Amino acid sequence: MVRLLRTNAFRLGALYLALFAASVLALLVFIYFSTADFIERQTEATIDAEITGLREQYEDRGLPGLLEIIHARSTAQHGNTSTLYLITDAALHPIAGNLSAWPQAQHIRAGWIGFPLEVRTRDGPVQSNALASVFVLPDGFRLLVGRDLRDASAFRSRITRTLGWSALLTVALGVAGGLFMTRNMLRRVDAVNRTSERIIRGDLTQRVPLTGSGDEFDQLAGNLNAMLDRIERLMLGMRQVTDNIAHDLRTPLSRLRARLEVTLLERPDAGRYAEALRETVAEADRLLGTFNALLSIAEAEAGSRRETMAVVDLAEIARSVGELYEPVADEKGLALTIDNDARLPVHGDRHLLSQALANLLDNALKYTPAGSVALRAHGVDGSARVEVADSGPGVPADRREAVFDRFVRLEGSRSTPGNGLGLSLVRAVAKLHGGEAWLEDNNPGLKAVLTLPMADRSALAATRNAA
Ligand SMILES: Nc1ncnc2c1ncn2[C@@H]1O[C@H](COP(=O)(O)OP(=O)(O)OP(=O)(O)O)[C@@H](O)[C@H]1O
Ligand SMILES: [Mg+2]
Repeated sequence: MVRLLRTNAFRLGALYLALFAASVLALLVFIYFSTADFIERQTEATIDAEITGLREQYEDRGLPGLLEIIHARSTAQHGNTSTLYLITDAALHPIAGNLSAWPQAQHIRAGWIGFPLEVRTRDGPVQSNALASVFVLPDGFRLLVGRDLRDASAFRSRITRTLGWSALLTVALGVAGGLFMTRNMLRRVDAVNRTSERIIRGDLTQRVPLTGSGDEFDQLAGNLNAMLDRIERLMLGMRQVTDNIAHDLRTPLSRLRARLEVTLLERPDAGRYAEALRETVAEADRLLGTFNALLSIAEAEAGSRRETMAVVDLAEIARSVGELYEPVADEKGLALTIDNDARLPVHGDRHLLSQALANLLDNALKYTPAGSVALRAHGVDGSARVEVADSGPGVPADRREAVFDRFVRLEGSRSTPGNGLGLSLVRAVAKLHGGEAWLEDNNPGLKAVLTLPMADRSALAATRNAA
């Protein structure tokens, strides 16, 4: 309850309630005064009509006629003395009417007087007030016509009571509704809080429950859940990467350590030391290579570079990577041909794409003892397709998927340097870009294919102009 009072929702609710209550109160006060005013006018109109009637009688029938009428009216409404009559002479001695003496009257406003009145009822005398008007007859006689205000004041107090109750009811309903709504809102916020507390304590699988109403709380919960899903995926990816790196680097590091230990046990001479150090440096280089390759794969798989991807020209990337490998091909006596479309816009990461193409070219040149290597980059059916075909020994059909796994190398390749990570990166990069990578028979040799969805040509032009 105390917490409820401190919430924003409650404060807002209280403010609205106060405004609402104030306007309802203003309305009730207005109703009260206009009703009271109406009752008063009504009383005055009745008295006015009575006096007008009596004056006409007086003009027609003179004083005796008037006295007769007053007498008749005073006795006729015996017990129901809501209309008061009194005729006195010039010295204010009563002559006729249902008032026993000229009252101790107070001037209220022009033409109207008020006075206290004791009315006899069945339950005894009751104090009341009266409103009256006085008409002076030509010969000094005075005619007083008034009304007992008991009914009017009873009506007024009934209205006051009714209005009071409705004010109370309005405020009570407002408070109850406000509490209910605040409570409801707090419950939803609490659900979010509870979930986040559990997540903070380490359970990333927790999700904020949805009510299915599709309201703003549900939208908030949905967005939070989507965010949590993404964080969880990233965390999982990161954990996998660190696990892999730890696992994959342990073997070569142990090997390195074992070699150094054996060398020490051999009681080596200076020449053996030098050789051991050279081997260690080479092994460390390999380790670094593995490390970098693993990091690149992890980066591609985690998709962390997705945010910085832009529209790039795959044809141009292919050409420049191909040109980079021309000296290697020359040295080995292999014929390297490059054939590409003018433009192949793809949405991607230039660095990772270059690395993937370099890995394919590296394989083709590395595993082909003699012959030719062809690099082709063309647009086919709305995708950009890069092929690296060689005339080497190829990969048996049943191994063409396996070689994409990490650290998988074929028997015949053990003599050539390598980690078995090149194709893994190619596949990770393809996936990152929403594309595919696979191996085909080149009869003879191997054909590695990488396809990526083509981006809008105009997008490429736009980025070129911007750059
Ligand atoms: N063009 C190719 N011709 C014949 N065999 C290939 C060819 N490309 C890949 N392979 C086989 O697939 C295996 C995996 O290739 P991958 O590129 O993944 O690793 P790697 O070349 O051995 O080492 P790394 O690329 O990490 O230096 C290679 O070891 C090789 O046996
Ligand atoms: Mg390779």
